Amino acid sequence: AVNDSEVTPFSVPGYACQRRCTLENHNAVLTDALSLLAENAELSDEDGRGVAFRRAAAVLKALPSAVTNMSQLTGLPCLGGHSLRVIKDILENGTSSEVESTKESERFKALKVLTGIFGVGSKTADRWIREGIHNLQQLRDSGQTLNRAQQAGLEHYDDIKQPVSLAEAEAIRGIVGRAVASVSPEAQIVLTGGFRRGKLTGHDVDFLITHPEEGSEVGLMPKLVSWLESRVSFYAALLISKQPKMIVVMFKSIVTFSKILLNVISGIFLYGQKFRAVLEMGGRWRAVRVDLVVSPISQFAFALLGWTGSKLFERELRRWAGHEKGMSLSSHALYDNKQLSCLQGRYIRASSEEEIFAHLGLEFIPPNERNA
Ligand code: CTP
Ligand code: MN
Ligand code: MN
Ligand code: MN
Repeated sequence: AVNDSEVTPFSVPGYACQRRCTLENHNAVLTDALSLLAENAELSDEDGRGVAFRRAAAVLKALPSAVTNMSQLTGLPCLGGHSLRVIKDILENGTSSEVESTKESERFKALKVLTGIFGVGSKTADRWIREGIHNLQQLRDSGQTLNRAQQAGLEHYDDIKQPVSLAEAEAIRGIVGRAVASVSPEAQIVLTGGFRRGKLTGHDVDFLITHPEEGSEVGLMPKLVSWLESRVSFYAALLISKQPKMIVVMFKSIVTFSKILLNVISGIFLYGQKFRAVLEMGGRWRAVRVDLVVSPISQFAFALLGWTGSKLFERELRRWAGHEKGMSLSSHALYDNKQLSCLQGRYIRASSEEEIFAHLGLEFIPPNERNA
């Protein structure tokens, strides 16, 4: 007789933003395999294929138990022929030949190593590979011109590859928090990204900063950066007493960019600022990637939702907004494309994540269940 669980198909909604997905994953072998294929597609500039594998992995992550039989997958969304072949291969043979051969391929290995350098994307890595550069030593020997971010990335490669712990994230929150308080006493700082979703490690630490008074956040980022740059040795000393293994030795700004959106009719200036830095910490000196974002209070809920992730959850929220609701969602605003009467009316205000989910007609999903 066939076991009940083998004949009862699972059922999940079609969009990841409709699903509650904690960090508990009953299908890690399958989702690791699909994630690796997604990564390979993304590194090969095949974003469409990458998203397809990510969506398939997200469906399996949301299942309440381990898949043991292909028949359980009948009717599940986002599982294309290719993903189903990979799953079948693993259920029948323990591994997927495609995943194993991808993992072992020289090209994939080289792309992973080279794009693991902060500031190096798949296009640059691909160009280097075509010039015969497959590893860090070959890159160093090649005499390639590296920009400032890439130089720092190469110099601190091993540190940046090493996951950041929650304890380190908290310590960095202490440093950045004190810096923020010094340049703007009322400003507030929130940990976002994977740590807000309950992860215990991350590839970086993400912070969102805002000010309760609209407009007072203007100019905060450059002040914050120069404050940190000029007081690094002071902070190193302060931290040693609290966290013996962690000393801030240097703070470098690597990339800055700002986005500006203008709402002409209402005169509201919507903008955001994102700042990415390499925070170098030591004892045994280590470099940690820190992402800082400053948002005006009027956009704070959108920024908080947008920077908490996961990446796929965010992508699915935007897809839901566009395809199901005729709206555009970003980390700055929610815009109703159907409201043709007046431009001002198209922007939908929200002061909390709960309100944004409600505007989108979605059940609220708390951060720790956004791990799609
Ligand atoms: N993000 C973004 N634009 C980028 C990079 C990231 O909007 N250029 C958003 C992502 O969509 C995600 C959030 O910032 O919602 C956090 O991204 P990231 O730090 O890359 O991922 P985490 O989920 O924090 O994973 P990790 O723990 O590995 O850092
Ligand atoms: Mn579970
Ligand atoms: Mn992160
Ligand atoms: Mn980040």
